Amino acid sequence: VTAEKGGFDHFMLKEIHEQPKAYRDTMLGRINEDGKGVHFTDLNLTKEQIKNIRNIQIVACGTAYHAGLVGRNIIESLAKIPVETDVASEYRYRSPIIAKDTLVIVVSQSGETADTLAALREAQANGAHVIAVTNVVGSSIARDANDVIATLAGPEIAVASTKAYTSQLIAFYLLGLYMAEIRETKTTEEIAHILAAMDSLPEQVEQVLTQAPIIKEYAEHIAQHKHLFFIGRGVDYAVVQEGSLKLKEISYIHSEAYAAGELKHGTLALIEEGIPVIALATQEDVLEKTLSNIKEVKARGAEVMVVSYEERREELMKSVDKVLSIPRTLPLLTPALSVVVLQLLAYYASLALEHDVDKPRNLAKSVTVE
Ligand code: G6P
Repeated sequence: VTAEKGGFDHFMLKEIHEQPKAYRDTMLGRINEDGKGVHFTDLNLTKEQIKNIRNIQIVACGTAYHAGLVGRNIIESLAKIPVETDVASEYRYRSPIIAKDTLVIVVSQSGETADTLAALREAQANGAHVIAVTNVVGSSIARDANDVIATLAGPEIAVASTKAYTSQLIAFYLLGLYMAEIRETKTTEEIAHILAAMDSLPEQVEQVLTQAPIIKEYAEHIAQHKHLFFIGRGVDYAVVQEGSLKLKEISYIHSEAYAAGELKHGTLALIEEGIPVIALATQEDVLEKTLSNIKEVKARGAEVMVVSYEERREELMKSVDKVLSIPRTLPLLTPALSVVVLQLLAYYASLALEHDVDKPRNLAKSVTVE
């Protein structure tokens, strides 16, 4: 069994460590040789159609939905197309407005999630072109979609999704850049610059992984708590939603992920002495705002851990209790690194509480009932 797990104690830890490879494999063959553009040779969606897209709806469940939240930031910022992200079980019943220039992107690791499959069919019945971002090319969702963008994460066994999520992010970066080139919303130089930064991601994930011992120590500390909060702004908000889910799924510690600026509109009432607040602060354009939200919780006795850049450590340590760092990358690319910190945190918290990391209670890897 340990052989299957490649020497790791759990599939989840093995899969967390497989992320550098999953990034490389998902990028491989889709980046032009000169590093200045992206190609999707197998996409049926024509360049003309891409030029004419009026809006995009991303639909998925669970962790794939969280990838779709980051996907919205990515596509809006690169290709300037309005994007909505919905959970599949809600999408169908809210009578979504699907026009002929609407592109629907469904995201599913397994390609078998019943809610996502039903949403795909609903979208097609309304005339939308559907792209499936999936890890299983022979799956029902892949079969039914008009187009498939395969994530090449390899089989994912642990119920808590890790490498599939990050490979979905890579797929969104590539798709966003591809659309940006066709719609001329980014210059060739800008695209090349982003691709060069993406090229460093696998190595940077390795650097994050070397911090496992410090993350473990912090995880053992939070494992003594029953409730905690995650906060962030922009893509950091999307990432903390995934971090919170990961922690809940396998450690059973209750947590809530909040947009940092929204705390004061109610949730601040729940901040009391000693409660851990985990803040993601990688978006430097809103760093000051996030810091002032951190002060709000500190003033109410919260114990704050921040994930940011190493160069910020000294400054941040003036206002927080602990800093974990990620290597420097472009603001839009930080989710591909910061989420790895949160995955390890969830893993080690579950381990500290002696839960069944790979098979959490009540959850299934793939849910084929609606
Ligand atoms: C289940 C799993 C989640 C997963 C979700 C969507 O609920 O427990 O980890 O994110 O299904 O799965 P999919 O295969 O569609 O990505």
